[in-house]
Formats: sequence, C-alpha cells, structure tokens
Amino acid sequence: MPFFEVRHPLVRHKLGLMRDKDISTKDFRELTAEVARLLTYEATKDLEVGPHTVEGWAGPVEVDRLQGKKITVVPILRAGLGMMDGVLDLIPSARVSVVGLFRNEETLEPTAYYCKFTSQIEARLALVIDPMLATGGSLIEAVNQLKQAGCSRIRALVLVAAPEGVKAMEEAHPDVAIYAAALDERLNEIGYILPGLGDAGDKIFGTK
Ligand code: PRP
Ligand code: URA
Repeated sequence: MPFFEVRHPLVRHKLGLMRDKDISTKDFRELTAEVARLLTYEATKDLEVGPHTVEGWAGPVEVDRLQGKKITVVPILRAGLGMMDGVLDLIPSARVSVVGLFRNEETLEPTAYYCKFTSQIEARLALVIDPMLATGGSLIEAVNQLKQAGCSRIRALVLVAAPEGVKAMEEAHPDVAIYAAALDERLNEIGYILPGLGDAGDKIFGTK
C-alpha cells in the first residue's frame, strides 16, 4: 500500500510553524487539528459514493452519498486525541474507537492497555490517527488490535513520519496506506524523529 506525503502548501506552512521550538501549547494544538483536517481531505479522496435521490427545490434531484457504514476514527492515546477534532470537523458522523498504548522506555515496544472499538468495526473504514510515526511500533500494534477485532480497511494519518517507521509498517501491514504531512530524515538514538516536532503528546497536552 502506498505512502503519501501530502505536500499541499498549507500543510507545509502549518507544519513549518509547528517545528518552532518556542511554539505555545495553544498554537501547537490548533495547528495539529488544522493539519489533521487537511490530511483527512486527502485520505478520503477516493471514498466510494453512490446515487441517491433527494427532493430538491425544483423536484427530485440525484445526488452523491457516501456508501457503506460510517467511518471510525481511531486515535492512539494519548497524542492521537490532538488530531481528533480536525478529523471530526470533516467527518462529523464518524464513530470514535480508541487504542491506548504504553511503551517500554528501554525497548520502545508498545503494549495495548485499552482498546474500545465501535460496533461493526469489521464493516467500517478505520482512520488511525497519531501525530508521530517513529519506530512504527505504536501504529503497528494499533493496526494489530484493529485487525484482531475484524477490521480490514485501515488507513493511517500522521503529522510526521520517519523512514524507519514507514519501512516497519510496510513490512508489518502492507495493506495500510499512510498519509503524512512530512517524511522526515531519521530517528535519533532514543527513537525521536529528526528534525521532527519533539514530544508531540507533551506539546498538545502542555505537559512537561
Ligand atoms: C508517541 C506518538 C506515537 C509514538 C510513536 O506517543 O504519539 O504514539 O510515540 O513512536 P513509535 O512509532 O516509535 O511507536 P508516546 O508513546 O510518547 O505517548 P503519548 O501519546 O502519551 O505522548
Ligand atoms: N514520539 C514523539 O512524540 N516524538 C517523536 O519524535 C517520536 C515519538
């Protein structure tokens, strides 16, 4: 499945603002949602629509309607929550499922401690959201959990991806398309993306 770097000028501008080390929590949070909106637009470009007739002002008119069950958006806790409002702005009737992960500080390996999926997950398209795709461990585990629950149509939206994480996802879940605002250079020795954004969760929640 492909990796899409969304090189829209608004995305590039907004992500550039987010890289400033002195950015406020308020600005980082707002920009996270704004970029998430733009990624959602890109990631849903090929959704299937079908004909539907409505009673228009001048009589019946055939319009397009999205097909199938409602989408589920799946934030990875905690930082993924920062992207949720942006996605829901464009898909207000989406169902929300969540995956909670904690990472072993030394191995960086994630363990799922909480998963709550919407009903009929097997019939829905899932949009997994997390600002950072670093080693890929968190996204791989979130997709593992979704697949175990029967979900087979999965896409991922991230702000910044590292090549290492993209490669790991391609190996573990080649069927999952990834939409990223930027593909950065590499990981540092403790698994942070360079140049990256720093700790996205801390910046969104104002912790640290
Ligand atoms: C961050 C980020 C991803 C993960 C990416 O979350 O939001 O979930 O790290 O790293 P990986 O690709 O190497 O797994 P973190 O575990 O720091 O938790 P947080 O969301 O609470 O900040
Ligand atoms: N998690 C973050 O928040 N930032 C990184 O660069 C890597 C993982």
